[in-house]
Amino acid sequence: IEQALGAGPLAGKRVIVTSGPTQEPIDPVRYISNHSSGAQGTAIARALAGLGAEVVFVTGPAQVAPPPGVEVVRITTAQQMLDAVQAALPADAAIFAAAVADWRVAEVAGSKMKKTEGALPTLSFAENPDILATISQMKKGRPALVVGFAAETDDVLANATAKRARKGCDWIVANDVSPGTGTFGGSENTVHIVREDGVEDWPRMGKQEVADRLARRIAEALHG
Ligand code: CTP
Ligand code: CA
Repeated sequence: IEQALGAGPLAGKRVIVTSGPTQEPIDPVRYISNHSSGAQGTAIARALAGLGAEVVFVTGPAQVAPPPGVEVVRITTAQQMLDAVQAALPADAAIFAAAVADWRVAEVAGSKMKKTEGALPTLSFAENPDILATISQMKKGRPALVVGFAAETDDVLANATAKRARKGCDWIVANDVSPGTGTFGGSENTVHIVREDGVEDWPRMGKQEVADRLARRIAEALHG
């Protein structure tokens, strides 16, 4: 309703959200990807739009449909995701919830690789651009607030704190995705907001509730 009225605490603010997995081709019929459903990124885009933000939603091939009321940019690879994010700038904030493939296949075969008796293929990899780090470290035109995510299975807070410093983003939303926590692919999340001045532990809650809280924090930060 706030968005429909052009009101809400994020009215007039432009926010980029990345979401879902990327797919990195091996040949015309095969790819490397991951299990990201796009649920958390979609929930965040929905929450931001609900507070009146103009949202550019850059998404890989996710299982969850994009929310209404956002500009959807569909991409496949990490390089395409970076290009789309850069094309969407300038923005007041950028939230990087996508599970970007760290590597791509160095030489994508132009035609389908065939199974040949007694010979196994070998794949060589190249590193993908780090979208979060690239945007965080922009010298000119950096969004005022850059938020990354860290899904960790071990030493969640230590890894997320180091990741925040390494990438140069403002906040890291860290969560424990160890088997047994049920977060990966589930509907709930237990997150920690890692900032320069300390860590905030949020209780376990639904992914939409995480998104709603985060969107309110983003609105406060952009006005503070
Ligand atoms: N990210 C990104 N571009 C990449 C890799 C990651 O923008 N090529 C972003 C993700 O969207 C997330 C954050 O960086 O917001 C952290 O991603 P993560 O995979 O946890 O970090 P990595 O630095 O890739 O470290 P690792 O996978 O080794 O834990
Ligand atoms: Ca990674």
